[in-house]
Amino acid sequence: MDLKSLIRDIPDFPKPGIVFRDITTLLRDAKGLRYTIDLLKQRCVDANLTVDYVVGMESRGFIFGTPLAYELGAGFIPVRKPGKLPSAVHSIEYQLEYGTDCLEIHQDAIQPDCKVLIVDDLIATGGTAAATAKLLQLCGCNLVGFGFIIELRDLNGRASLPNVPIISLVEY
Ligand code: PRP
Ligand code: ADE
Repeated sequence: MDLKSLIRDIPDFPKPGIVFRDITTLLRDAKGLRYTIDLLKQRCVDANLTVDYVVGMESRGFIFGTPLAYELGAGFIPVRKPGKLPSAVHSIEYQLEYGTDCLEIHQDAIQPDCKVLIVDDLIATGGTAAATAKLLQLCGCNLVGFGFIIELRDLNGRASLPNVPIISLVEY
């Protein structure tokens, strides 16, 4: 299946010069959605990844991370924007083009030494994924890999990530 044909390109969103890769058109396609999750799972199996937990980042990482966790027989743990998680959190600030942003995870979400896969819809600069990897370091768990539906190769986000397998299904 040609996944790219299900992803809609929106020029100049959210600002001039950005081509937004819109996954809502993929999500609404029943066969495309099933194919995407099945393929991501197969790529994890092919890479011999053992996964106790999938960690997904708010908000589009939730959409793909949860069904993947289900398929892998793993648990799902949300990484959220600040002030959303109700119990004690680890927090990490990271750089954006202008200013900083912050992500949080529950301190008691993951036991040390668990094997964790980070999943998001898309990697651009890699800032979000790299910050999430740092949160997992604070938790003391083992990062076994990253899974993305879309990778924007020109931005070389993978250069910011730790040296573990990086799976992406569609490249631009
Ligand atoms: C988007 C996307 C990734 C991130 C990638 O999320 O879903 O999480 O940007 O960019 P990066 O590699 O440069 O960090 P966004 O922050 O727009 O939030 P959303 O999922 O709530 O739309
Ligand atoms: N997140 C960061 N860059 C993006 C892009 N070009 N399309 C969709 N989501 C994004």
